Amino acid sequence: MLTSVLQGKKILLAVTGSIAAYKIITLTRLLIKAGAEVKVVMTKEATKFASPLVLGTLSKHPVYRDLTEGDSWNNHVALGRWADLMVVAPLSCNTLAKMASGLCDNLMMAVYLSATCPVLVAPAMDEDMWHHPATRANIERLKEYGHTVLQVGAGELASGLVGEGRMAEPEQLLSAIRTALRAKTLQGKKVLITSGPTREPLDPVRFIANHSTGKMGAALADAFYEKGATVLFVHGPGSKLPTYPEITKVAVHTAAEMYKAAVAGFSDVDIAVLAAAVADYTPETVADKKIKKKEASFTLPLIKTQDILKTLGENKGGKLLIGFALETDNSLENARKKLEEKKADFIVLNSMQEPGAGFGYDTNKVSILSSKGQISESTLASKAEIANFIIETALESDK
Ligand code: CTP
Repeated sequence: MLTSVLQGKKILLAVTGSIAAYKIITLTRLLIKAGAEVKVVMTKEATKFASPLVLGTLSKHPVYRDLTEGDSWNNHVALGRWADLMVVAPLSCNTLAKMASGLCDNLMMAVYLSATCPVLVAPAMDEDMWHHPATRANIERLKEYGHTVLQVGAGELASGLVGEGRMAEPEQLLSAIRTALRAKTLQGKKVLITSGPTREPLDPVRFIANHSTGKMGAALADAFYEKGATVLFVHGPGSKLPTYPEITKVAVHTAAEMYKAAVAGFSDVDIAVLAAAVADYTPETVADKKIKKKEASFTLPLIKTQDILKTLGENKGGKLLIGFALETDNSLENARKKLEEKKADFIVLNSMQEPGAGFGYDTNKVSILSSKGQISESTLASKAEIANFIIETALESDK
């Protein structure tokens, strides 16, 4: 799981009265696990649906409920200003109307009206309420304020009716929170990533493939997205997928299909990272029926596939092109050769010798060779951290 964008971020969860409040317990746990700092403010109604004791314990902060507690006053301005993001979830119909009109009759509303950070809301209500013109108008008003309004889901509702109005699930909320906290470093930039293995069929039941799991490519796609880029992810079968739903994913099988998708996508991007383990050879012909076992030995004629990185390198223009190299011997020399022959700006050399690095691991250790002759070495780290290392190294030395 990727955590970088949430690490140390301050999230203010505002919980209002809806049966969906129970989902905030899971969300709080997910946010804390991802390294965020969480504070919770609840309306009086919300406390009937989710326990402040549980939320206080999980968030490691007291839950704020009233403007005054005992002899002290809760500083709503400080709370509103503390947050990097305010998340109102579940957003009840009542609180929605208050937010739309700026009514300040409880601590949660005072915090909301004082908040200077971005606001994300996750509505939860019954279908008829959701479709009422007053609700529609209030939702539009919130959008005009610049708030992010999460889609409601369709399904069984607390009333027993089936329809639209279900609050987003905790994982969807987490993904939306990460999206809202994206950096702007690469805003406006488009990135193409190839990832995972390819499969070259020889008959209807068999194929030639490799051990690539696509974890590094998926981590790169998420890391680029978290830096504000738009990402096109072309992946082979069985590859791990990036976590953000906003990343465009194109599924391919063979090296020829990956070539076609990557070449088509390349014209529109600023950066391309070719992390896929593409088959170098493919069967000359694909049998339309299962090949039967006959002689003691069997020869399969193979032909070379097209080299995607090389093709993109020849048509690079001003784009930034990053390739990978997996070597078992003469690593640096071979990687340098690939860098030159394929006209890439960088080659990320994967180490097969290093324990914990390479196919299938959640960690990796790489050396990055630049066309300017520099070499940057990473430590053994999570693939998410390695993805950030690759991006930072490439952007830094590209300046
Ligand atoms: N690559 C590609 N298209 C291919 C083969 C490789 O785009 N048909 C890319 C890979 O995605 C990687 C780089 O080229 O970014 C190097 O891949 P690698 O398998 O290490 O090297 P090859 O060029 O295939 O050479 P060899 O297998 O002989 O080491």
